[in-house]
Amino acid sequence: MDHPSLDHRPLGRSGVTVSAIGLGCMGMSEFYGPSDDNQSLETLAAALDLGITFFDTADMYGVGANERLLGRFLKGRRDRVVLATKFGNVRGPKGERLGVCGTPDYVKSACDASLDRLGIDTIDLYYQHRVDPNTPIEETVGAMKALVEAGKVRFLGLSECSVETLRRAHKVHPITAVQTEYSLWSREPEQEMLEVCRELGIAFVAYSPLGRSFLTGAVSSPDALASDDFRRANPRFSGEAFAQNHKLVEALADFATAKGATNAQIALAWILNKQEHVIPIPGTRRIKYLTENVAATFIRLTPAELATLDGLFAPAAVAGTRYAAPAMAGLGL
Ligand SMILES: NC(=O)c1ccc[n+]([C@@H]2O[C@H](COP(=O)([O-])OP(=O)(O)OC[C@H]3O[C@@H](n4cnc5c(N)ncnc54)[C@H](OP(=O)(O)O)[C@@H]3O)[C@@H](O)[C@H]2O)c1
Repeated sequence: MDHPSLDHRPLGRSGVTVSAIGLGCMGMSEFYGPSDDNQSLETLAAALDLGITFFDTADMYGVGANERLLGRFLKGRRDRVVLATKFGNVRGPKGERLGVCGTPDYVKSACDASLDRLGIDTIDLYYQHRVDPNTPIEETVGAMKALVEAGKVRFLGLSECSVETLRRAHKVHPITAVQTEYSLWSREPEQEMLEVCRELGIAFVAYSPLGRSFLTGAVSSPDALASDDFRRANPRFSGEAFAQNHKLVEALADFATAKGATNAQIALAWILNKQEHVIPIPGTRRIKYLTENVAATFIRLTPAELATLDGLFAPAAVAGTRYAAPAMAGLGL
């Protein structure tokens, strides 16, 4: 059942609407230090109770563990959830990275494996996680289209693609959503992609909208992160860049305090108030943060306040790239 007071947004031209913010589930299985499945399951259930209907996972998160976790959550709740998952980042059984694959055979087998782990018959939104530079997008999306025709998938998405790739893909089959990093400190989509999505009637799903927690102010130092935390190797969290970026977070805290909100809430409200076709999917493993993030959907920012935040986080003021060099090279932009 949808929460009566939580705003909804159209998922592109699919005819389906989803809660104005979704829940990113990645950190429940990997990347941000240790996690606890029971705590994550409680958070997932609480999200649904709070009115969140849009849940985001991928086959590579925890090498299948995140989809299996979602499968446990979905039992008895399937019809209340719009479930998005992704394929394309290939990993071996020990988690080793084996590159990106978008060949038609791989697309079919990856989808079957995801359906099996999720314990469902149909994926609502199926994204290509990264564009395969060795397979023409027409071939990959052609195979994704066949999944729609077979009833295994309802809608198609692309993650971290270029505008040109998106336009080519959209000719093969309507693309319902593009998922790319977008937040106060990651503004690249403002150059072109946000406008192209608006033009084509495609939802833009903003991942890492809290800057992987950095914007919230909760990360006091890179040393405070677990030894296996992915962010330790992220340029924005390292050395001098951390210190420079932290000054921006302190300025955001001043703004948030004056508005009677938290940093996380202003970071999400900035996205929601600025772009009507954007759906942020903040990730959290905790009910406390979840509740705080949901409350951001009720915050209204004036054009002047949006402009202040835009200026505060002008791209030139942010230090470091959003991924380390090898991952930046794989973005397909
Ligand atoms: N397509 C892609 O390539 C791609 C890449 C990255 C992510 N994603 C998707 O996007 C989702 C969200 O991105 P993300 O998880 O990377 O980053 P994010 O949403 O920007 O930040 C998540 C981090 O912020 C913390 N957090 C959440 N709410 C908070 C609050 N109110 N106050 C303080 N800290 C808070 C979380 O802590 P706890 O977990 O400890 O609660 C977690 O460490 C992922 O879960 C995943 O589904 C997609």
